[in-house]
Amino acid sequence: MNHCTFAVYPGSFDPITNGHLDLLTRGLKLFDRIIIAVAVNPAKIPLFTIEERLELIRESLKDFPLKERVDVDAFDGLLMDYVKKVGAKAILRGLRAVSDFEYEFQMALMNRRLNSDVETFFLMTGMRWIYISSRIIKEVAMAGGCVKGLVPDPVERKLIEKLARR
Ligand code: PNS
Repeated sequence: MNHCTFAVYPGSFDPITNGHLDLLTRGLKLFDRIIIAVAVNPAKIPLFTIEERLELIRESLKDFPLKERVDVDAFDGLLMDYVKKVGAKAILRGLRAVSDFEYEFQMALMNRRLNSDVETFFLMTGMRWIYISSRIIKEVAMAGGCVKGLVPDPVERKLIEKLARR
């Protein structure tokens, strides 16, 4: 059977972290191809523009061993409209702690209501990254703290650059 499985991995990616890359690696054990889909207008006000977020993901993937199986794209509006447009049947999301669960549960069920042919797959982030989020990375970096080793190098550089401009 010649069957290629693929999933959409949506998020704000403001910015991408090592936790996201870890989840991507795990996802690629299940899916042949993953599209990282960056929400143009996430619920939160982003630090990085959509162009910056896409560029940081592309730069961060340069050293990623499985990069040939990853696409990077942006989407505006409803995630399920985007998923339909690209013809995916799976959404990939990461879970860190119980605190993520309620929001993820709501989103997954709403998305299922919008299109019951698409399933949401949750994978647990590696223990090393269980406590990091884009939000906490920004908070620490913007207050002058070191985030080396928690985000890809291009992201660390860009955070320092943003900080210097403030
Ligand atoms: O990284 P995040 O901020 O947790 O990602 C949330 C995201 C972007 C996946 C979610 O807000 C989303 O899908 N936004 C697009 C608009 C949409 O479809 N909203 C309804 C989801 S139930």
